[in-house]
Amino acid sequence: MTPQTTSRRGLPLRSARWLVPVALTGLLAPVLISAGNTANTAQAADCSSYPWMDATKTPEARAQALLDASSQQQKYRWLVEQPANSPQTATFSGVTYPLQVPCTPTVVYTDGPDGVRGSTGVTTFPTPLALAATWNQALVEEKSAAQGAEAFDKRKNVVLGPGLSGGRTPLAGRTPEYFGEDPLLSGLLTAAAVNGLQDGNPDKPVLANLKHYVANEQELDRQTSSSNLDARTLQEIYNLPFTIAVNRSAPESVMCSYNQINGAFACENPLLNEVLKGESGFDGYVMSDFGAVHTTAASLVNGMDQELNRPRFLTPANLDAALAAGQVTQAQIDGAAFRVVRSYIRGGLFDHPMADVAVVNASTPEHQATALRAAEQSAVLLSNDGVLPLAPAEGQTIAVIGPTASNTVTGTGSAALSAKSVCAMSNRGNVSMACENLVSPEDGIRTRAAQAGATVVWNDGSDLVSAAATAAQADVVVVTGYQRMGEFADVPDLKLQGNGDALIQAVAAANPNTVVALQTGSAVEMPWLHQVRAVVETWYAGQQMGTALASVLFGDTNPSGKLPMTFPKSLADTPTAQSPQQYPGTFADGSTVRPTGSTEIRQVQYSEGLKVGYRWYENQGIDPLFAFGHGLSYTTFDYSHLQVTPTTTSGTKEIRIRFQLTNTGKRTGTEVAQAYLQLPSSAGEPSKRLVGWDRVTLGPGEHRNVEITLSPSDLQDLRLLQYYDAGTGSWVTPTGTYQVHVGGSSDTTEVNSFRIK
Ligand code: BGC
Repeated sequence: MTPQTTSRRGLPLRSARWLVPVALTGLLAPVLISAGNTANTAQAADCSSYPWMDATKTPEARAQALLDASSQQQKYRWLVEQPANSPQTATFSGVTYPLQVPCTPTVVYTDGPDGVRGSTGVTTFPTPLALAATWNQALVEEKSAAQGAEAFDKRKNVVLGPGLSGGRTPLAGRTPEYFGEDPLLSGLLTAAAVNGLQDGNPDKPVLANLKHYVANEQELDRQTSSSNLDARTLQEIYNLPFTIAVNRSAPESVMCSYNQINGAFACENPLLNEVLKGESGFDGYVMSDFGAVHTTAASLVNGMDQELNRPRFLTPANLDAALAAGQVTQAQIDGAAFRVVRSYIRGGLFDHPMADVAVVNASTPEHQATALRAAEQSAVLLSNDGVLPLAPAEGQTIAVIGPTASNTVTGTGSAALSAKSVCAMSNRGNVSMACENLVSPEDGIRTRAAQAGATVVWNDGSDLVSAAATAAQADVVVVTGYQRMGEFADVPDLKLQGNGDALIQAVAAANPNTVVALQTGSAVEMPWLHQVRAVVETWYAGQQMGTALASVLFGDTNPSGKLPMTFPKSLADTPTAQSPQQYPGTFADGSTVRPTGSTEIRQVQYSEGLKVGYRWYENQGIDPLFAFGHGLSYTTFDYSHLQVTPTTTSGTKEIRIRFQLTNTGKRTGTEVAQAYLQLPSSAGEPSKRLVGWDRVTLGPGEHRNVEITLSPSDLQDLRLLQYYDAGTGSWVTPTGTYQVHVGGSSDTTEVNSFRIK
């Protein structure tokens, strides 16, 4: 057998001759995410003598060699985050283990879909939903590679992200942490994020963690609710993006979620073994969310491999007892330990120890440039009557209005607002990233306006009369509207916060040249839409938000973002607003309000089934405010000559969707051209589905023949032509006519078809 000189993912393996401590005492057990232990160099082993450090062997052989040399208690260490990751610390919250076998690495988990949390000297990127609006896999990979490098430099080598969900309700607090409402878009962008994190920096390996598995779609009662859904919905909407990410990126870990699925907690749900590890082929390790474990035996038996944080359920005493009672087998314990160790080895953690001291400033100019490009590409121009791009004449005044438009803090305590408070909201429901070097909209617009000879005035918008007066004196107004959301709570409605709707209305009434810049983590209603001249959705755009916004407003960047989620006209139109059983879910007494002091599980019925996101609106004939995939440019595009070849096929061979795309305007622009398929009616799908897209840049008047190819592996890995037949428990490619739609949004124009026989 050829000796392995690279890891499975092609990481060059460093010589195993690094020295590690074999004894380390006196360090406190980490509290939330394990703090890294630095070396106690009193005693050190030559690691080259241990077979698990032999980089010429496969990760499997190395992991097996390590377990063969381990005591039972040393195996137990791998089943809990803290003892697994601080191998030379003995006691964690009063639970004592023998030290780990020599030469296993310090591993440190860090949160973040959107950046390295809890650190200074790191880049604050746009949040994942914003990145999803770029539809740019290469950019998501680039951002994730930058994040991975910063994590490693900050002594963190497992990133608890990317996150993905089904986008079931826009009220869900963590919507900005995920990649939107379509399984294909979300799955492929998740794969890009994993590839960037895990493979982006061969000398600075970090593992990625897909979270949260599965049907984890609301923050309300997230630990005490059951997501009740049928097998087909589970497979096609909620599991499919995980499968796509597994197929296209091989993540080393997955986090099981807090909620129950059909009455069984996610971290002890048979879905882990049967669907995630079985059908979807995930071969890394499953870790729990923080406090999402409820049992010892049921968790292990059903496929959870590691308890996050400290030992609570997978303690040595509990494991010994479960073994003695015959509730778990030795093979199940060995299997879980093996999966953790293999992932750490395969991901490069054994061969690339982190430095003892973190880099002070891990945020490089390149990373900041990536953050800027991502913010520019993620801006979605929702409406524009021609006022944008701005072209202020010398001496004109631009009023920038709104508390989150400026770095100047308004309000106090939890009501304090500034651009920083919407820089990167997603994980903690409030700013939990340092968000250093932040360029606010006010600063970005002021700098850019100065080049045009214009000046900027800012008003915080807290007093509508004063805001209107400022607006009235300006030539043009940019007013920001915000919505702060994140972990722990869903939002109660889809309204702008801080009296934002009234502010926009007051400003628009005072100045007809009003442009709205939204800073939201989800969809919002826009009762003022027809009173303003343009609306740009900028999401939580990270530290470069102001520079990016100014670039879009002044036309230095021609907007190319497209909505990764539907914006409904009203909350009442959303798929889950049709009954309280769907959202927020109900209790046995039929109420939506938790009985006082009760720990009863809230039952959330996913009775909308497959009709999530644009599938719902299309199926029900409800016009959204802005459709999934919508986004304008300063130029216009025309789609024509749609052809599909072959016109009859077996369903396993390549399908080519070709069309002509023409830039019919006067500026160079980039169009995210989207292809959708409507399966034959026998499939019972509610609507067409996204099957591919291409980002195409064209000069004024230029046209190009665009081809979106559905390769045999796409058809298989991404389930493009298939539906899930719950009766047989299998994916089926129906025969019949498939309608192909292409266009600049899910409200598409050109239609053609092919047949599968
Ligand atoms: C969140 C996870 C996070 C974990 C550790 C939990 O509350 O749901 O997303 O990774 O905390 O911080």
